[in-house]
Amino acid sequence: MPDIQIMPSILAADFGHLAEGCRRAEAAGADQIHVDVMDGVFVPNISFGPEAVKVSAAVVSIPQNVHLMITKPQNYIEAFSKAGADTIQIHIEAQCDVAEVLAAIRDLGKRAAITINPETPVERIFECVENRWVDEVLVMSVHPGFGGQKYMAIAEEKITTIRRMADWIDIAIDGGIDHETVVPAAAAGANLFVAGSYLYGQDDMATAVSDLRKVAQDHFCKAI
Ligand code: DX5
Ligand code: ZN
Repeated sequence: MPDIQIMPSILAADFGHLAEGCRRAEAAGADQIHVDVMDGVFVPNISFGPEAVKVSAAVVSIPQNVHLMITKPQNYIEAFSKAGADTIQIHIEAQCDVAEVLAAIRDLGKRAAITINPETPVERIFECVENRWVDEVLVMSVHPGFGGQKYMAIAEEKITTIRRMADWIDIAIDGGIDHETVVPAAAAGANLFVAGSYLYGQDDMATAVSDLRKVAQDHFCKAI
């Protein structure tokens, strides 16, 4: 079974105390920090740049999982790599030569991941998986751009398709994950879970993180 991991999204942290938000996630037992980078073009919102990754990497020792919701990721991977990203996720819908950018991410010594939006057919990422250009696939279960949106079950079919193709791959799910939606997501074959508003909204984040992990372990691939 691939490692089941929980990744709090600091998009839901208090931006005035970002370092504190990162420390809180690590202290709660999170496996990685998920950093949502938005350029206001690829998605209708603007969030963090490389400086936020630098802050996070400086205050925690768990890996930085960096989700680039930007139109031209090729222009920024070096900056995010230098800032301390461990995994860099680019979108299949971005304006770039995906194979080239994924290879460039690996050349920088980082884990490469491909991300897919709800309305994009899963076939679009087949060659990334078949050719092993990626270590991880990130399936969006909301339209990217904002935290706190409702989970879309349309992600589950994509996850199962990819899981059947590749038992070795990490499959992350992002958007609307909580103690209920983690069940069908894990059952479909996801093993990495991004959660923003749910985790940061808890008084006791540590219990929520370990409960999410436990539920995911119990249901992993049960629907396949
Ligand atoms: C959405 C982001 C998500 C977001 C998840 O564009 O990619 O990572 O932070 O937030 P929740 O868990 O609140 O849906
Ligand atoms: Zn994200």
